[in-house]
Amino acid sequence: MTETSNAQWHDEPTDYDQTGKLPRLRPASSEAPSLGSLNITAAATDPELLDLPWHIALEQWPASALAALPRGISRHIVRFAHLGGSVIAVKETSEHIARHEYHMLRKLQRLDVPCVEPVAVISGRTTPEGEELDPVLVTRHLKFSLPYRALFSQTLRRDTLTRLIDAQALLLVRLHLIGFYWGDVSLSNTLFRRDAGSFAAYLVDAETGELYPELSTGQREYDLEIARVNIAGELMDLAEGGLIEEKVDPLATSELIMDSYRRLWSELTEKESFELGERWRVGARIRRLNELGFDVEEYAIKTAANGTQIQLQPKVVDAGHHSRRLLRLTGLDAQENQARRLLNDMDAYRADNNPTLDEEFSAHLWVNEVFEPIVRAVPRELGGKLEPAEVVHEVLEHRWYMSEREDRNVPMAEAVQSYLDDELRHRRDEAAIMLTADAKTIGIDEDSEYGDN
Ligand SMILES: Nc1ncnc2c1ncn2[C@@H]1O[C@H](COP(=O)(O)OP(=O)(O)OP(=O)(O)O)[C@@H](O)[C@H]1O
Ligand SMILES: [Mg+2]
Repeated sequence: MTETSNAQWHDEPTDYDQTGKLPRLRPASSEAPSLGSLNITAAATDPELLDLPWHIALEQWPASALAALPRGISRHIVRFAHLGGSVIAVKETSEHIARHEYHMLRKLQRLDVPCVEPVAVISGRTTPEGEELDPVLVTRHLKFSLPYRALFSQTLRRDTLTRLIDAQALLLVRLHLIGFYWGDVSLSNTLFRRDAGSFAAYLVDAETGELYPELSTGQREYDLEIARVNIAGELMDLAEGGLIEEKVDPLATSELIMDSYRRLWSELTEKESFELGERWRVGARIRRLNELGFDVEEYAIKTAANGTQIQLQPKVVDAGHHSRRLLRLTGLDAQENQARRLLNDMDAYRADNNPTLDEEFSAHLWVNEVFEPIVRAVPRELGGKLEPAEVVHEVLEHRWYMSEREDRNVPMAEAVQSYLDDELRHRRDEAAIMLTADAKTIGIDEDSEYGDN
């Protein structure tokens, strides 16, 4: 390790309220980087960061430092490395971009939108010969996440693709609601996690992002147009490689994001007018928003001048309605659709077993008698295949289909065993997909943009 004792740690900037683009400020200390003196900006001091070979260009990092996980396509050099017990993503880029992106990701995290977690910006890198190396942005690897190309290692069915695009649309709506203009919406700048048969999308590349108090319709539409064009390109590319079903039309499919986005946006924000006597509509609107996974914190209700009409507009909407209810009742942290699925089972459990029991107490029983036994039944060697909440969702599904097929009420223990033997065992590991024959298609080990099929 080169003179790590020279490393300087800086706290992250805290001007969270700043809007739009960040100014091109250079930190004073980077003007004359001394040999071997690293400049580290981080929210928390992570001393293990100093053990990584920052004096070597990222492309030449030894395999022993790297974690072989699937990566999306990118212009910059990106590598995954081990850091203590976790995995980090390291991206070599310019100092300005690294700082902008780091700061933007911090803001997005504080605003509670799904994105990767920034860890540090490291500059002042030099080789032992004194040659300057590019600064890096370090983010935490998002566990169980997949770049979209990794989802296509077998051909992807059309409805899976539709769900992927719906997840992307929901992410874009959530970003726009908090005033974030992405500027480079694409499948490769998004990571996907399985979410009860659907997907949950996370922003991974905030390089072009700008944050405003509010976005104009023009800005939102422009972002949406970028999304459509990029997705069309990405799908054409997959189609050429034979990675999507032939009947899928890339252009028509890319247009789905427009519909999906606009439907969601208007449900969440549109003004609704109705007669004074139809006040039940307020409740109905709230239930619809909850069903979509959003909580409503405030409503603007106005009566029209003649006093017979009401105008209603949801003011603040927060995503994660079901996740929050599940967390409140059980302490389990799951994604939105997983939470919705688990809550359904929990409600059915209460109705079947103890309808008069307090909701919270019944939730506690459900965790002990349903959720935990399933998770415990997964043998250690299968533990990296799927997240626990996803496993429970799949077991519940499996049991339902099994019962239907065999026309009997299959006991849980039997359903779990059958699921483990017939399904989970045959899945690949998603906590950490290792280098496999299809690595090329998903760009694990190469910088050449795509594999050649
Ligand atoms: N924290 C992370 N967790 C998981 N994967 C990550 C993470 N950071 C980066 N990646 C992977 O690396 C890829 C490239 O990252 P990123 O999009 O930030 O690079 P880029 O060079 O800025 O891209 P672009 O070409 O769009 O400018 C992503 O598509 C993703 O697959
Ligand atoms: Mg990118």
